[in-house]
Amino acid sequence: MTESWQQQLQQWIEAGELYQGTLSQLRRKDETLASRTVIRPVQMKDGFYYQFEAHHPNKVYHENVPAGRAAERIAELLDSQYRQALFKTAEADVQVLLSKKGKAAVLRKPPTGKAPAGGLQHNRQKNRIIREGEAAPFLVELGIMTPEGKVHAQKQDKYRQINRFLEMVTDVLPHLPADRELTIVDFGCGKSYLTFALYHLLAVEQRRDIRIIGLDLKEDVILFCRKLADKLGYDRLRFLVGDIAEYEELRQADMVVTLHACDTATDAAIAKAVNWGASVIMTVPCCQHELFRQVRSDALSPILSQGLLKERFAALATDAARGTMLEALGYKVQMLEFVDPEHTPKNLLIRAVRGASSVSREKWEEYTRFRDFLHVSPYLEHALEDFWPKPVK
Ligand SMILES: C[S@@+](CC[C@H](N)C(=O)[O-])C[C@H]1O[C@@H](n2cnc3c(N)ncnc32)[C@H](O)[C@@H]1O
Repeated sequence: MTESWQQQLQQWIEAGELYQGTLSQLRRKDETLASRTVIRPVQMKDGFYYQFEAHHPNKVYHENVPAGRAAERIAELLDSQYRQALFKTAEADVQVLLSKKGKAAVLRKPPTGKAPAGGLQHNRQKNRIIREGEAAPFLVELGIMTPEGKVHAQKQDKYRQINRFLEMVTDVLPHLPADRELTIVDFGCGKSYLTFALYHLLAVEQRRDIRIIGLDLKEDVILFCRKLADKLGYDRLRFLVGDIAEYEELRQADMVVTLHACDTATDAAIAKAVNWGASVIMTVPCCQHELFRQVRSDALSPILSQGLLKERFAALATDAARGTMLEALGYKVQMLEFVDPEHTPKNLLIRAVRGASSVSREKWEEYTRFRDFLHVSPYLEHALEDFWPKPVK
């Protein structure tokens, strides 16, 4: 996975906290390259972007990059062009110096500049995907907004969570095919606030050609969701009762989401997504009991001998294993903070975007070292066994 300063940068960008970045010190003399690139956030009508201002000797070029791809673009520029970066947030100035071999020295200093008045975060609040004051019918029906579009005081957290989720989806939309119907599956959809929100964004607001399938074990919630979809006239949204691992209806899907599906239900969902060749997988795991029962390591006994620490460690190890397996399968993986209205520790969102189609042996070996060290045998590895490199005999 990426280095920690890159993860930190990703988080600043996701949260709209990076208000300026400067890339400088060319790796080689080349007059065709911009000697400096300055990066600033811009709020456009269709979303949140970062503007890359490339300073050439006699010209300045601008490129607007969706916020979800800005960190990747910065990494590419640092890889190919620059050796120095300065990132400014309200909390700190962070300087990154890269050696010729790409090793980073990171220097964190108190902030020298001033974040824009009102703060970017404030701007983002004002520019939420579903705005207060404009009643979204599904939110009215779900009791989050009044028919006038006012968010009920006790539903503010849920409203924020829905918007945050939609922002995270918006960031990856460029990775989904735009020339045909999209198939999206929400596994363990429950009462489906986020499924309805997805439909609202993509089918109602953006008028995309989509179909969404929500699946859950619970018959009563599925009945509730079907009735609501009918009432709203959401005719490309279907709800089915069933177990994730046994769902066999599809041959292909473009995006799979699974939020708070317990324990290995998350793995069953990831395995389906990989088998369908999904371009995007978004999952907020919870109740990671599987590795809690398996993990063993004498060196880690200070953690593993304390129930609470062991539980948290097992959850992190489970998600790290999932992330690394997805990377081995060619996905670009980000671990992001998700707002959870219940304020539980279940606030990690794994977002994976399909990249290379071949399996990375290096990442696979990174994964196997990790699982062997912990003496675990995760469900997901077995569910995906056809994909893994065969042992050399
Ligand atoms: C905590 S709720 C989350 C609901 C929704 N995704 C959300 O985040 O608001 C978890 C849901 O996953 C469903 N679930 C758990 N295991 C499942 C499985 N194996 N197959 C289908 N649904 C499952 C449960 O029935 C429950 O409705």
